[in-house]
Amino acid sequence: MTEPGPATAAKSGTLRLFFALWPDDATRTALNRTGKWLHQNWGGRRMRADTLHITLAFLGATPIEKLDAVIACADAVQTEPYKLLLDQAGYWRHNRIGWLGTSETPSQHVELVGALNAALPAAGYAIDARPHVPHVTLLRNTAGGEPPACVPVGWPVGEFVLVASRTETEGARYEVIRRWSLG
Ligand code: 2AM
Repeated sequence: MTEPGPATAAKSGTLRLFFALWPDDATRTALNRTGKWLHQNWGGRRMRADTLHITLAFLGATPIEKLDAVIACADAVQTEPYKLLLDQAGYWRHNRIGWLGTSETPSQHVELVGALNAALPAAGYAIDARPHVPHVTLLRNTAGGEPPACVPVGWPVGEFVLVASRTETEGARYEVIRRWSLG
């Protein structure tokens, strides 16, 4: 289990939470390399390597007293490990994000997101009505353009995590506060 860090050490207050896939070191290095390549093509602001992830479910501001209920939602999830092949760059005009995603979402990924979304209402969260598009945000505030060909990044997914996000002067700081193994 993850040791409590600054975010969870507090006994009261609010945490900005989300469930995510958190890359292993090799995957993070490969994603960061693609971030550099995309930045050369599209400009904008590169995400720091230590922030790279795929959001599975965004919970937002959560009173710290609710943390146990959130953890119980994830304890109920039963999904087998899988491999994500991130082979497609994309750009969203509405939020000026440049990202890396997949042309083929594995069924286990759909299952994992579905299981979290099915469990979260019990803890008082509404299901996100928007379809889930698995993506790693690599650039913010980018002009985008025609997606360049990218070297595919293979991501062996063996766990998911709960993350607390804090906004600091140099950008978002993420703290992994709990991990769950798949399978
Ligand atoms: P993004 O990468 O597409 O910006 C932490 O903020 C993570 O949660 C980011 O990955 C971000 O997605 C995602 N996120 C932020 N606000 C969100 C919202 N209102 N709904 C869904 N996901 C959100």
